[in-house]
Amino acid sequence: MKNTMLNYFKEVFGDTEGVRVYFAPGRVNLIGEHTDYNGGHVFPCALTIGTYAAVREREDRKLCFYSANFKEKGIITSSLDDLVFKKEDDWANYPKGVLWALGEHSYHAHKGMDIVYFGNIPNGSGLSSSASIEVLTGFIAKELNGFDYDLIKISLISQYAENKFNGVNCGIMDQFAIAMGKREHAIFLDTSNLEYEYAPIELGDAKLVIACSNKKRGLGDSKYNERRSECEEALARLKTVVDIETLGDLSEEEFENHKSVIKDEILIKRARHAVYENQRTIHAVEALKGKDIEKFGALMNASHVSLRDDYEVTGIELDTLVESAWKQEGVIGARMTGAGFGGCTVNIVKNDAIDSFIENVGKAYEEKIGYKADFYVVEIGDGPKKL
Ligand code: GLA
Repeated sequence: MKNTMLNYFKEVFGDTEGVRVYFAPGRVNLIGEHTDYNGGHVFPCALTIGTYAAVREREDRKLCFYSANFKEKGIITSSLDDLVFKKEDDWANYPKGVLWALGEHSYHAHKGMDIVYFGNIPNGSGLSSSASIEVLTGFIAKELNGFDYDLIKISLISQYAENKFNGVNCGIMDQFAIAMGKREHAIFLDTSNLEYEYAPIELGDAKLVIACSNKKRGLGDSKYNERRSECEEALARLKTVVDIETLGDLSEEEFENHKSVIKDEILIKRARHAVYENQRTIHAVEALKGKDIEKFGALMNASHVSLRDDYEVTGIELDTLVESAWKQEGVIGARMTGAGFGGCTVNIVKNDAIDSFIENVGKAYEEKIGYKADFYVVEIGDGPKKL
């Protein structure tokens, strides 16, 4: 991959003198969905697919961005003195946002750069291609400018960029999972205080299979921000009767005792998902530690049901993929992953059933939806690195 990146760089910028190549992963969340902005737990892992960048520092403050995924956009130019959101800068608003956010945190980049990105995460699939570019840019800016921040700081600054520069009110999960990724481990993260623990993912005779619905979604135009405010409203109402900071502070029983104060049926459903999903995530990690992979799978399935019925973020594409997965032999668990409204599902499938899984779910999906899904057998990888 290093050579491929150097070749891309040469094609665009002429030669490869002084060019360095870096990588940051994508992520998949195993369980704990829509809990990260509710002070709950998440359980994501980094993937071996992700985003690569070949970069060379410049003598001036100019920024020349190029993506081998969006060749038609050409070189997008900017400057360290002009880090403002511009619609026409398209995908380059992600790296620009990170450089801007660094400045807001007193890390003033002084090195301009020529940079070529290339990602092998399917775009808009819900495997966090944007967070991957962000964390990668934060990692590169550190190396080029000699900053002293750590990986957790990179994740926080990347989230800040996504929130304040790109206008998506996301939680910390994606950026944290990417920055802190560890091979063959998922990250059990408490989003209320950023305490985390690595848990080995030992699936024995099974693998993680991702099914991509090919229904494109962008968080900005989805109902993501709406769900967030619904949870905030439910929390505000609960706070009038119980002393909590976030929905993640409630057990299922406490929620049931106090939910009537929320009054609105829709808001009760949203909050119920946040509370129960948080508890499911805690139980799922316990199950994994006890080597009870069947229980882990059953909790994944329950997570999907809750996202479908209470949180209402699945839609016909993801439901078709998951409900048809549940019918297949050798499927231990299946659920949507990420924000929802399109994107991907994550499935734990026994090795000897993977081929028939892909064939049968693929067929059922195409018959019902009218276009194809894509399938990826994935490995859990490390966080950002220099190649
Ligand atoms: C997106 C956001 C995350 C998280 C998930 C839902 O991926 O970026 O912060 O909220 O949706 O779990």
